[in-house]
Amino acid sequence: MPKNKFSFIFNNLNLKNKTILDAATGAGRATYRWAEQIDKQGGHSRIISVDKFDLPGENEKEWISSIKQSLGEYEKYVDIKKGDIFNLHFLADNSIDIINCDNTIVFLNKEPLQIMNALKEFKRILKPEGILVIVSEDTFDDLTEKNQTQWKRWNLSKAIYNLNGKTWSTEPKIKNVMDALNIIGFKKQDSLRLNAIKNTSNYKTIVKEWKKIMNIEIQKIPFSHNFKTNLKEEVKKIYEKVLKEKYIMTFSYWILKAVLKDR
Ligand SMILES: C[S@@+](CC[C@H](N)C(=O)[O-])C[C@H]1O[C@@H](n2cnc3c(N)ncnc32)[C@H](O)[C@@H]1O
Repeated sequence: MPKNKFSFIFNNLNLKNKTILDAATGAGRATYRWAEQIDKQGGHSRIISVDKFDLPGENEKEWISSIKQSLGEYEKYVDIKKGDIFNLHFLADNSIDIINCDNTIVFLNKEPLQIMNALKEFKRILKPEGILVIVSEDTFDDLTEKNQTQWKRWNLSKAIYNLNGKTWSTEPKIKNVMDALNIIGFKKQDSLRLNAIKNTSNYKTIVKEWKKIMNIEIQKIPFSHNFKTNLKEEVKKIYEKVLKEKYIMTFSYWILKAVLKDR
């Protein structure tokens, strides 16, 4: 069985003449890999890549144009659309062959049970013989000397959001997601758990964007000026440390392939 993320995802997956939902686009890394695979398989598939494109301090137009640019020749397979995963009203019932939700459910799970609404929306738009692929980061509670910077980045983000009464991310366990999917009519087809990997390709862009978002959020915190200055200093230290270490850690994560029970 393939042990690498994309070889596991694309193993036995027919991508010819399919309509694929990519939820959500983010930096477009998964979008690129799916478009590349469509090209390899030589069909006429299309990817509808959806994102809210509303991260603090981000310019929607520039964001979309940088994704288009990084897609290069594969842009022809992709329609980028602004939308909310909780309400995909522009997609008809039973209209999608494959849904790919890569590193996004941690942001859809901010309130208990909230994720159920996204999973139900996935079920509504999926064709009866369709397939749902979810990739998600796992909880990251293993703090060691070696991964300190990465641990700090993730947990400081959570703390800063909490101080504003908001939630940065909540990593659901694969078992809980599968239980929820079961309740709404899915069954597991396959799954894989992978160890943490280092992202050495676009860590600079990601950490720069992270620093910008965190500084915007710190500004809004209803605490003293001194406290905010110290938090900004911590963010700066982490930012510099990541640039020095030259990677961003994708914590251990899992991949789940699910299909409808009554297919
Ligand atoms: C980590 S990124 C996704 C990574 C991306 N799949 C990739 O491979 O590069 C998470 C994205 O989810 C988007 N997002 C979060 N909640 C959303 C929602 N309810 N609807 C649409 N997009 C959402 C954010 O705007 C962000 O761009």
